[in-house]
Amino acid sequence: MSNLELAPEVARFYSETIDESERLSTAADGRLELIRTQELLRRYLPPAPAKILDVGGGPGTHARWLVADGYEVDLVDPIARHVEQASSICRASIGDARYLQAADGSYDVVLLLGPLYHLPDPADRRQALAEARRVVRPGGLVAAAAINRYASLFEHAALAHMHTERMQASVSEILRTAVYDGRRGFTLAYFHRAAELVAELTESGLQHVTVFGIEGPAWSQLKAVEQREGHYPGDALFESVLAAARLAEPHPELLSASSHLLAIGTELPTPR
Ligand SMILES: C[S@@+](CC[C@H](N)C(=O)[O-])C[C@H]1O[C@@H](n2cnc3c(N)ncnc32)[C@H](O)[C@@H]1O
Repeated sequence: MSNLELAPEVARFYSETIDESERLSTAADGRLELIRTQELLRRYLPPAPAKILDVGGGPGTHARWLVADGYEVDLVDPIARHVEQASSICRASIGDARYLQAADGSYDVVLLLGPLYHLPDPADRRQALAEARRVVRPGGLVAAAAINRYASLFEHAALAHMHTERMQASVSEILRTAVYDGRRGFTLAYFHRAAELVAELTESGLQHVTVFGIEGPAWSQLKAVEQREGHYPGDALFESVLAAARLAEPHPELLSASSHLLAIGTELPTPR
């Protein structure tokens, strides 16, 4: 059964354990995620000004560049600290992806860059997607991010963690169940296969669903070099990994190597 409350481990993680406002600007893999999410979304967004609802928008990292690009952005997030941080960037309020306060068809674009991977119950993900569809206008766009099923395997192999039995057990549990229980490091999370993410958007009723690997196939090397050397890995490696992500786009086999996936679909326009 779907639990209507935000999972306490997710609330604790974002309220106390980490400061999400730094995630996409400090570490190299975060910067890669930001640059690629930006370039993929900019390909699809309607011209500014248009109304965007950033659901699970966190402290407003994406809202910031979208506002700078001329969009009118509203953000909802269940974490009070995120809403406070985002309030200096756009209109921000407490909310849950499964129960949006917005009126039907009131946005040109709805972003779900976070909620789907913190909702392990498929009924909750269906409800979040149904809500996104409800509040987007006919012909509008829904973009949803997911964490890849294989991301933890790539990450922990590159970081030289996989030789321990504890890590093998933890990663194989994610590969088997698609769920991380949130006991150490990260929090409660669901890990999608690309085809599954496309199916969830399509089954919600969205049309023309396309999926992209956000960071591409080489992100874990960037992360490993940064951790080993203790500092930013340098422009040549960053540009090389970024170029690999772009080159990989037409090759669906490589989707499974990316850390995050981004699926974009359109709401059916009203027939004339
Ligand atoms: C990794 S952060 C991503 C933040 C931002 N969207 C980004 O891409 O940088 C995940 C976000 O999802 C939010 N979240 C988790 N469960 C949610 C839910 N049920 N409804 C809406 N947001 C949720 C968290 O509070 C957090 O801000």
